[in-house]
Amino acid sequence: MSTLTAQLQETTAFIKGIYPHTPVAGIVLGSGLGNFANEIDIEAEIDYKDIPHFPVSTVEGHKGKLIFGILEGKKVVAMAGRFHFYEGYTSQAVTYPIRVMKFLGIQTLLLSNAAGGVNPDFRVGDIMIINDHISFGTANPLIGKNEESMGPRFPDMTEPYSHKLINIAKTVAVSNNISVKEGIYFVVTGPTFETKAEYRMIHKLGADAVGMSTVQETIVAAHMGLPVFAMSVITDMGLGDHEKITHEEVLIAAKAAEPKLATIFKGIVASL
Ligand code: HPA
Repeated sequence: MSTLTAQLQETTAFIKGIYPHTPVAGIVLGSGLGNFANEIDIEAEIDYKDIPHFPVSTVEGHKGKLIFGILEGKKVVAMAGRFHFYEGYTSQAVTYPIRVMKFLGIQTLLLSNAAGGVNPDFRVGDIMIINDHISFGTANPLIGKNEESMGPRFPDMTEPYSHKLINIAKTVAVSNNISVKEGIYFVVTGPTFETKAEYRMIHKLGADAVGMSTVQETIVAAHMGLPVFAMSVITDMGLGDHEKITHEEVLIAAKAAEPKLATIFKGIVASL
């Protein structure tokens, strides 16, 4: 058995000792989006620092715990706080919790993030359903020996974001009068925000938003055949004559848009 598999089994056994149920969906809450955890009828919480082999989150605005409970009548597990490459973790560490959630039995992964808009039709506060991504400079979490028991050496990436889940999200949005955008997410390592020239380049390369997360998690999910739905909150606009961008402004904009995201996530979970 590989070291990774052995570690995952140890982590899963520890968690099952505290929460023996099987969640149907895993939810990752991005920067400023932690309030969503209040929507969950919490049955158990485990601090990351207590979980064997889990990395520990260091970024402001991230709570750093795994939350188990009921959402829309379904058992879910939510990560309040995720791990980022820019914190110094390897891409394998960043994605370790996704593998753990799969081992716990989830069948759907819902991801959220704060992102900068590079589509001129976007505005701060918009919600963008991610329908594809561009990964250029960030480390692929599948580099290294392939875990054959989990997935293929060369995973297909023609539909990393489930069309079925995107359609459900759009239906939920329409019936709740929420307008959503849809587009391509470009991942960067961070932690610097982009220069004006970089924002322009990202736009020219065909992306609609840019951020520092989500893609590595999606790649690992794709590797394991786990359907993904991902959504960005546009917290700042990278194109045009914008002011300086700060982490505080990102958190404030994300928090303001969080109820829209919550409605869509809840609608998807209800449909599972
Ligand atoms: N760039 C990269 N990551 C981000 C941004 C941005 O403009 N906003 C929020 N996360």
